[in-house]
Amino acid sequence: MKYFLDSGKIDEIRYAYENYKIDGVTTNPKHIMDSGKPFLTVINELAEEFRGKEFPISVEINPHLTKAEDMIHAAKELATISDNFVIKVPCNEQGLTAAKKLEEQQVRTNVTLVFTASQALQAGRIGAKYVSPFVGWQEAAGVDCTQFMQDILDSFANFGFETEIIAAAIRNGNQIATYAAMGAHIATAGLAVYKDSFEHPFTDKGLKIFGDAWDQTEGN
Ligand code: E4P
Repeated sequence: MKYFLDSGKIDEIRYAYENYKIDGVTTNPKHIMDSGKPFLTVINELAEEFRGKEFPISVEINPHLTKAEDMIHAAKELATISDNFVIKVPCNEQGLTAAKKLEEQQVRTNVTLVFTASQALQAGRIGAKYVSPFVGWQEAAGVDCTQFMQDILDSFANFGFETEIIAAAIRNGNQIATYAAMGAHIATAGLAVYKDSFEHPFTDKGLKIFGDAWDQTEGN
């Protein structure tokens, strides 16, 4: 499973790239706002940081755009900034229309805000680079999304779609492991989620036991 970092903060993106081997970044307008910097500053920083590297960076168009032609125009402008950029378009009728046309023109897309398998299916049909089912949002509201994910995986396998499936808005290690076991290609989560997923209280307890033993062993 590839790990993408869900962030607009260059310092934590750099940290995760250097230390966690993250495979890409997904930004969204909220992450950019949380960075405290203007949109163009953030995306130019990211473009510069990863120039020449195989490292996809999802950048979202203005969420107020409602017409496919306006989305296409905004997406193309962003795509000229960096070869790394994959353009996030919303999963609705106009967004999917925009994604189809962008992919035909070699602008890679990430169809975002996906909440049903039928939405995901169309993203696969039109050859989007990525589709992002937001499993974390639904699971935070008490909805088990494993069947939702299974339906997407099965239908993509049935028809040989090459679109990569991002288990998005992941909130804990259990979700990462669950969706990895199911075969989702990518997880995207914040730095703290990955950090927590590497830890366990029994690991700490074991270190204490072994540390004590080390101290009580002659010669150490
Ligand atoms: C994915 O591409 C989204 O940016 C993301 O997973 C949304 O999740 P959030 O609620 O953590 O911002």
